[in-house]
Amino acid sequence: MNAENTTTDSEADVAERRVLVFDTTLRDGEQSPGFSMSRAQKLRMAHALEELGVDVIEAGFPIASDGDFESVRAIATEVRHARICGLARAQVNDIETAARALQPAAHARIHIFLATSPLHREHKLGMSKQQVVDTAASAIRRACELCDDVEFSAEDAIRTEPDYLAEVFSAAIQAGARTLNTPDTVGYTTPAEMYERIAYLRRHVRGVEQVVLSVHCHDDLGMSVANSLAAIAAGAGQAECTLLGIGERAGNASLEEIVMALRTRHDLYRARTGIRTERLQPTARLLANLVGATIPRNKAIVGENAFAHESGIHQHGVLKHRATYEIMRPEDVGCARSSLVLGKHSGRHALRDRLKTLGYTLDEAAFEDVFARFKALCDRKKEVHDGDLEALAVGRDPEA
Ligand code: KIV
Ligand code: ZN
Repeated sequence: MNAENTTTDSEADVAERRVLVFDTTLRDGEQSPGFSMSRAQKLRMAHALEELGVDVIEAGFPIASDGDFESVRAIATEVRHARICGLARAQVNDIETAARALQPAAHARIHIFLATSPLHREHKLGMSKQQVVDTAASAIRRACELCDDVEFSAEDAIRTEPDYLAEVFSAAIQAGARTLNTPDTVGYTTPAEMYERIAYLRRHVRGVEQVVLSVHCHDDLGMSVANSLAAIAAGAGQAECTLLGIGERAGNASLEEIVMALRTRHDLYRARTGIRTERLQPTARLLANLVGATIPRNKAIVGENAFAHESGIHQHGVLKHRATYEIMRPEDVGCARSSLVLGKHSGRHALRDRLKTLGYTLDEAAFEDVFARFKALCDRKKEVHDGDLEALAVGRDPEA
């Protein structure tokens, strides 16, 4: 079973840690405008996420609709290795509905959330601090009767008083929660603040060594990945994220970016995930195709340009040694190979290399002639394709 954290946080200080990847593409991602999916689409995505190697798949919010209930149930029935999670408010009906949806799962988790910040306590819940603690604890106790793996999220944790958050989490552990999640629900925090918050919780939550601390960041200020990494650096053992960063408003932290940052900067984080990184591009593309979204060309890790080089200086460097301008190997994220896109910034090395690949080895004079006509063509066209080069190489006008 790949959903178990085998190292504790205190061991984490000395040994390499295994960070759990909790994917919420099918819950927080799917609930955002433009990304809703049918049951069949969610099921297809869940199989792909399992193949990708995520530890936990948050499959949906079973009380939200009959359709979501059925999707969670279908995923729980078919996906047998990853842990399948269903979301519930801290209410008995939600929890019992989630437990019914998850009943066929080989490995199930109920994820309960309740807001803890002063804003939410006062304006949304109308609850005192003590009422929030009691409501969370009794919801967790009920969930533990139905499922042996219960996660508790303190919604808007970042805008919650740190000492009070520690009190809520201590009560949640006592009630039986195994994972405690610190969401930056509104994408408000910064990496330094997030690091401080996780470090504070590790010092002040009673029984923290028995549980996994988790982080869940939104991208309203564009810092969700940086904040997630800061939480991991401070000892968080689980990152909640979505493929392509889809999610409420500006989205959630992007799974592919967190995973590749941990892998590429292993020297800093000393943490690994169970993700088969070569599945990242195919799985992200499957999601985009299913929901009809376009992946921005310059999207980190999975965008079309992520391993494309156009400037002549960069192309020359990559041809000599790819590490000059590539910090990751394209094949490690499932991209066939880096591409040298030929355009007006390209130089002789890239053109000669591409012509050679296409089967044209020209003498110096012929090459200089092709190069001059290539540059002129680039001023008229944004991108020059292989067919254009072949025409140039045989002395034909590609635009004729
Ligand atoms: O952003 C959030 O607070 C959430 C919780 C339900 C974990 O999505
Ligand atoms: Zn969220």
